[in-house]
Amino acid sequence: MRTLLIIANWKLNGNWSFNEAYASAFSSGLKDVDVTGRQIVICPPSIYLQQLNALILNQDIYFGGQDLSDETAGAFTGEISGVMLKEFGCRYVLVGHSERRVRHQESNEIVVRKALNAISAGLIPVICVGETLEQRQSQQMHEVLSSQLDAILQGLGEQVEQVVLAYEPIWAIGTGQTASAEQAQEVHSWLRERVGKKSHSMAQNLQIIYGGSVKSDNTKQLLNMPDIDGLLVGGSSLVVSEFLSICQVNEGI
Ligand code: 13P
Repeated sequence: MRTLLIIANWKLNGNWSFNEAYASAFSSGLKDVDVTGRQIVICPPSIYLQQLNALILNQDIYFGGQDLSDETAGAFTGEISGVMLKEFGCRYVLVGHSERRVRHQESNEIVVRKALNAISAGLIPVICVGETLEQRQSQQMHEVLSSQLDAILQGLGEQVEQVVLAYEPIWAIGTGQTASAEQAQEVHSWLRERVGKKSHSMAQNLQIIYGGSVKSDNTKQLLNMPDIDGLLVGGSSLVVSEFLSICQVNEGI
């Protein structure tokens, strides 16, 4: 039985006063939400982790970083290590988000190095994979996803047991164009099968979450799918009422 995971990725959003208002509304709204059997994670810009950690004092809410360095220490200006994120209360860290793969030229090798650093620091890496619209339309989707996934499987070996996989089709991110629950399920089950070629139990235990224009009104359809184990939420996670609705939607009919 895989635990349901709902992750808020704030990206480059939030500021001191926004965070204060958010934390207060979120904490009080959370009292009416049954989070049994699910984990809720907030990934703010890392500079605000300490502030939010002090404001959201709910043991059911976890924190995560949005990225970490592929190095561990030294002369790497602007970087943040897994150990630093851990020290600031993180349990998770996003790795290989498409916005980083594209804008920061993060290769599969860098993504693997980051995931390994996260695991050594005691964090759970949430490793993102996904294809562009052109790749999907030109039937290259499986090729792209295989190269991303195979790098993870080869680079991490047995340690794949310690990660979460996130399928985020790039064409669905921030576009309002969510993958249909069926489209997402098809890819999730394909990813799980491919992991299953390495190890059946690893595949069965692996949490695979979906991200890309998730909203409260498409949450239920997505979570009803057998291979969708949670959601990675961008824009909708910045609106407290919307994020709380997503957190409380029950999967299963
Ligand atoms: P949106 O929910 O804004 O489409 O973002 C998805 C995402 O990239 C989460 O990591």
